[in-house]
Amino acid sequence: MDGVLAVASSKGGVGKTTTIVMLAEYFRKRGSVALLDADPNQKLISWLGDEKGESRVEGIALVSLLGRNIVETITEAKAQHDVVIVDFAGALTQEMVFGFGYASAVVIPSGSSKGDIDEARKTFQVVEQTTALLSAGNPSFSLPAKVLLCKVRPNTDTYKAAKQQLAAWKVPVFGDDVHVPHRTSFEKAWWHKCSPQEVADKALKKQIDSVCTAIASLAGLAPPEAKPTKGRVPRAKKAASAATPA
Ligand SMILES: Nc1ncnc2c1ncn2[C@@H]1O[C@H](COP(=O)(O)OP(=O)(O)OP(=O)(O)O)[C@@H](O)[C@H]1O
Ligand SMILES: [Mg+2]
Repeated sequence: MDGVLAVASSKGGVGKTTTIVMLAEYFRKRGSVALLDADPNQKLISWLGDEKGESRVEGIALVSLLGRNIVETITEAKAQHDVVIVDFAGALTQEMVFGFGYASAVVIPSGSSKGDIDEARKTFQVVEQTTALLSAGNPSFSLPAKVLLCKVRPNTDTYKAAKQQLAAWKVPVFGDDVHVPHRTSFEKAWWHKCSPQEVADKALKKQIDSVCTAIASLAGLAPPEAKPTKGRVPRAKKAASAATPA
């Protein structure tokens, strides 16, 4: 097992589930991924699951946390998968604190409105409180966390104001190039029940990749190995087939 990522905000609709679907697509190239759905609406499971709630995507397992103990479920998932990602309900919950205790990093998606960043700050304060609580018993405990600005239009005044306010509050936020821009591709991915990467254009795919790499780095996870480009015949094979008589 490599790590547990918690994607959380006390605000609903800020892009938590969308971020997780992007991360799952990114990490399944490096090993098995378990997605734990703690949201009563179970949107993650309806996005990637079939009618029985089983995953439709190779390399991704879906687990509902409804009626289940989060501590036991994370422990089981850690034993069986390389990366575990938890999707929380858009509210401050006790489950969130337990989940943070097991996390390698917390990602806090947020829009750039005042209401969204207020909630991002409250969620970050839960990270700080969890860290204070757990480091009392274990001084080496640390929990990296950053706000990921989602559904944003960079270079606008609102985007800049949101970043300035978070900085003034000393709430860590990913760097300027690491944000999820407002694009219809993300809504399209939900309707098509596929990953955003599958419907994104080249520039957006690159942006999603840099967001996922920054999150992997926050959690101390290595980025996935690059797969050989599809459709290209490896050199050795090319030479061998050329030598074979027709
Ligand atoms: N970058 C984006 N650009 C445009 N639309 C987006 C983007 N990210 C997400 N959306 C849309 O915003 C809505 C909310 O996104 P999402 O479900 O990921 O948020 P959430 O935080 O998980 O919400 P909830 O708290 O309800 O679970 C969805 O309709 C989604 O398609
Ligand atoms: Mg959600």
